[in-house]
Amino acid sequence: MPQDPMTGIHTLNANIGNVFLIGYRATGKTTVARILAELLGWTCVDADQVLEERHGRTIRRIFAEEGEAGFRDKEAALLEEFCNNERQVIATGGGIVLRESNRKRLQGAGWVVWLTADAQTLWQRLQGDPTSMERRPPLTVGGLAEIEEVLRLREPLYQSLARWTVETAERPPHAVANAILDRLSSSG
Ligand code: S3P
Repeated sequence: MPQDPMTGIHTLNANIGNVFLIGYRATGKTTVARILAELLGWTCVDADQVLEERHGRTIRRIFAEEGEAGFRDKEAALLEEFCNNERQVIATGGGIVLRESNRKRLQGAGWVVWLTADAQTLWQRLQGDPTSMERRPPLTVGGLAEIEEVLRLREPLYQSLARWTVETAERPPHAVANAILDRLSSSG
């Protein structure tokens, strides 16, 4: 893959649209998106952050005021908007895969990469994130049991969409971003 010696930016040979990072909470999607976007000279989009800014409320509050369905409608509308553009690395919310219409959109607008980690690692990361409780509404019963339950339901969906899977439990975010870049360069 050609790399600009001045900027360090890597140029893909093929036009692949966007890179969508999918996966459960705390798999590092936002941080990896930032690093990968920088390596490619692309735009980094954090879907949850854009949603909160657009609606002037935290996701937790949107869940509380409009229920999960209200949040999912907003999430789907934003995804549609993102898919009109290219050369973005998009960190999606962990539940984006729940709607079939979202899954179709993701597959049609770029390459989907699934970031994984075991439930125990995810639970530790969430507990170590002081802002997590404020930002992330509970999905079911909370705690490790919630992670295990939700993963069981979602893993087949993540799996069905993913062009590649990158295990993050033992890899820091820059290594995950570089692993994706390597795959992009050998495919694109
Ligand atoms: C959700 C994950 C969150 C956010 C919302 C719902 C989920 O995103 O979209 O709280 O259903 O797993 P992150 O994966 O960025 O935490």
